[in-house]
Amino acid sequence: MSGFSAEWLDLREGADHAARNAALRDAVSHAFADHESLTIADLACGAGSNLRGLAEYLPARQKWLLVDHDPALLAAASARLAGWADVAEGEDRLLLAKGARRIEAEFRAADLSAGAAAALAGEIDLVTSAAFFDLVSAQWLEGFAELIAARRLPLYAILSYSGEERWTPPHAADAQMLAAFHRHQARDKGFGPAAGPRAAALLRDALERRGYVVETAPSPWRLGAGDRALIEALAEGSAAAVAETGEVSAQIVEDWRRIRRGAAGCEIGHVDVFALPERR
Ligand SMILES: C[S@@+](CC[C@H](N)C(=O)[O-])C[C@H]1O[C@@H](n2cnc3c(N)ncnc32)[C@H](O)[C@@H]1O
Repeated sequence: MSGFSAEWLDLREGADHAARNAALRDAVSHAFADHESLTIADLACGAGSNLRGLAEYLPARQKWLLVDHDPALLAAASARLAGWADVAEGEDRLLLAKGARRIEAEFRAADLSAGAAAALAGEIDLVTSAAFFDLVSAQWLEGFAELIAARRLPLYAILSYSGEERWTPPHAADAQMLAAFHRHQARDKGFGPAAGPRAAALLRDALERRGYVVETAPSPWRLGAGDRALIEALAEGSAAAVAETGEVSAQIVEDWRRIRRGAAGCEIGHVDVFALPERR
């Protein structure tokens, strides 16, 4: 089981929204442009960032089903969405007005480790998820592809970690630290050995084998002077993960952590995936 705090998700939300691949997002927007309304399931929704990042690119009337296993994050999602909207009514089921968008948001507590079938019950036009598929296993992704393919559901999966990192200025231990970080990433996050940087390619392959047309595109975080707090948090998080592996000497980890907290910038690679069944 992995824990994500609402504060961590708040800290990364701006960078997450800026990183989304704009051409792929436009392709998603275009694919549903003739829908009067759209029902969207957001898997592993956290504090609701994906809805806030995507709503303006989808039709005027939207119904979102926000799914996560963490009730504290679902409560945070409800509170943050109410604060984000121009007008908000309700609590468990929110009715939101944001610009020209009218959005209904429902929250569903579900542990996705056993699969997404229960979470996706009911009418759905689009499945989406952000910063989640690198946590799951290759086997889970196969089951998930089978599930959505059986219903011919489109998928927009945003921000799967790609494994590429470039920090400025470079540090002599960058390669050693990254290799250890990747081994830590592959640890079980509740779904079996995590796919980590392989997630987008595995998803693409699993869906193409089931007749989907799949587009992928890069969506790196490009962090610089305005992202001090996020750079520091990333440095702390990476150093702590590597320290847990015991693969790099404590002295090197500590030196890297200290220098990286003050890094001028970094680029952290992600991949976005948009998959449409050939026949809908
Ligand atoms: C990196 S966060 C991304 C959250 C959100 N999509 C965003 O973009 O801010 C990963 C999310 O996966 C959720 N998660 C992890 N394991 C889960 C599970 N077994 N079932 C459902 N959600 C899970 C966490 O609670 C967390 O909200």
